[in-house]
Amino acid sequence: MKENMMDLISRIDVKQDAPEKEPERQYYFMDLLKNWMAAEKERLGRDLTFNVQTFGCQMNAKDSEKLAGILETIGYVATDSEAADFVIYNTCTVRENANTRVYGRIGYLGNLKKKNPDMKIALCGCMMQEEHVVAKIKESYRFVDVIFGTHNIFKMAELIYDRLTSKKMVVDIWKETDKIVEELPSERKFEFKAGVNIMYGCNNFCSYCIVPYVRGRERSRNPEDIIKEIEGMVANGVVEIMLLGQNVNSYGKTLENPVTFAQLLQMVEKVEGLRRIRFMTPHPKDFSDDVIEVMKNSEKICSHIHLPVQSGSTNLLKIMNRKYTKEDYLNLVDRIKAAMPHASFTTDIIVGFPGETEEDFEDTLDVVRKVGYEAAYTFLYSKRSGTPAATMENQVPEEVAKERFNRLLKVVQESGSKRAMEDEGKVMEVLVEEKNSQDGTLVTGRLSNNLLVHFKGGEELIGQIVNVKLSECKGFYYIGELV
Ligand code: SAH
Ligand code: SF4
Ligand code: F3S
Repeated sequence: MKENMMDLISRIDVKQDAPEKEPERQYYFMDLLKNWMAAEKERLGRDLTFNVQTFGCQMNAKDSEKLAGILETIGYVATDSEAADFVIYNTCTVRENANTRVYGRIGYLGNLKKKNPDMKIALCGCMMQEEHVVAKIKESYRFVDVIFGTHNIFKMAELIYDRLTSKKMVVDIWKETDKIVEELPSERKFEFKAGVNIMYGCNNFCSYCIVPYVRGRERSRNPEDIIKEIEGMVANGVVEIMLLGQNVNSYGKTLENPVTFAQLLQMVEKVEGLRRIRFMTPHPKDFSDDVIEVMKNSEKICSHIHLPVQSGSTNLLKIMNRKYTKEDYLNLVDRIKAAMPHASFTTDIIVGFPGETEEDFEDTLDVVRKVGYEAAYTFLYSKRSGTPAATMENQVPEEVAKERFNRLLKVVQESGSKRAMEDEGKVMEVLVEEKNSQDGTLVTGRLSNNLLVHFKGGEELIGQIVNVKLSECKGFYYIGELV
């Protein structure tokens, strides 16, 4: 049976060569795989399932949607279970614990594959851009079928095809790319909100960070392609979009006809039917006044700014290569607050960066208190080999870092609940996102400032923007009433 199926593939193959041009080439391979899929379904007498696991950031999650789009086009059916016919791990390597988690779970996939020998296992994403990782998988996890990186996810259909025809582990990692392939399928997790890549890669080389090494140099998408994608999404029911990039404020600098982030925001604002615009992540060093001005005058840009500070110490910020001081950062926050009085801020903070003194750490606490963050993502510094900080001599002992980390959490929590209390009793617009998982009579929605509200309501509200009274503040969320 299986051999007949292979015949089918090779017959199609000879009829016509694969086109060189993208994305046509990938649609060609998706077509071949559709035929293979039809034969497989007949052989097994059931649908074939797929499962995509996302380990990383919003950009990683967006890549997962693209992977799901390709797999659905081929004919795989999505499932929540990892006991699927095709499982792909989209990995992250920003901190060491992300890596450790992945290895354990690949072992688990190996056990699942013993029960289902037809199962295919693929690994992709940031971790795969590291040579030592791929070497380890080749040696210790021979049952993995396909490995690719961050630069060639568009090529997954071709790689699966290669795996089926070669019957060997297929490994394809690109060191760099200047290519952006448009017009490939993508499957959205939510009907009503979506992420939109505006740029890829990062040129900042913060001294602790591995992202520039695994995501390559900064490349921006053409504004026309971005707007076309958003218009398409809005026509399909999307009301909120999040513009994605590692440093969105430097958008457009590398384009043939440079466009600024402020100009892009204005173009997106004009998309009819779109109600909310978010973006992530802005870098404080590039957050210009023209962006603040556009935010001030916009009706769609949400009043939430995720503005990673990393540390409050000017001295550490310099060693981190962040290119702003404590004062620059606080001054920027003040300018944004002046333009958008209701803006709420969230941030990323690293504790225990090499050389961090008690005084440096106090500066971080000081920034948290002064800004009054609604929330902060706090991380213990994690050594990433290949980055400049990894070889710095004055690494902070783990106990010291942990003790600071716990102190920071307390201050962040105080700041968050204080901020949330300010809006108790107000009526605000909420985008209803889902049925409440704990209480079926409630739905959960998100405010423009990113906080969650739970209130009585039915599923028919999902995807709608409604007015809700924030009756009771519970620290980091509200219990509300539809008005
Ligand atoms: N481009 C974004 C962040 C991307 S990585 C920015 O510049 O803000 C997400 C977060 O992971 C970072 O903001 C940082 O706080 C954290 N991070 C990155 N490298 C880390 C490391 N080596 N150890 C601990 N946290 C790290
Ligand atoms: Fe990493 Fe810095 Fe680039 Fe953010 S801006 S991805 S922290 S190097
Ligand atoms: Fe992780 Fe890669 Fe994002 S390392 S944080 S998935 S860019």
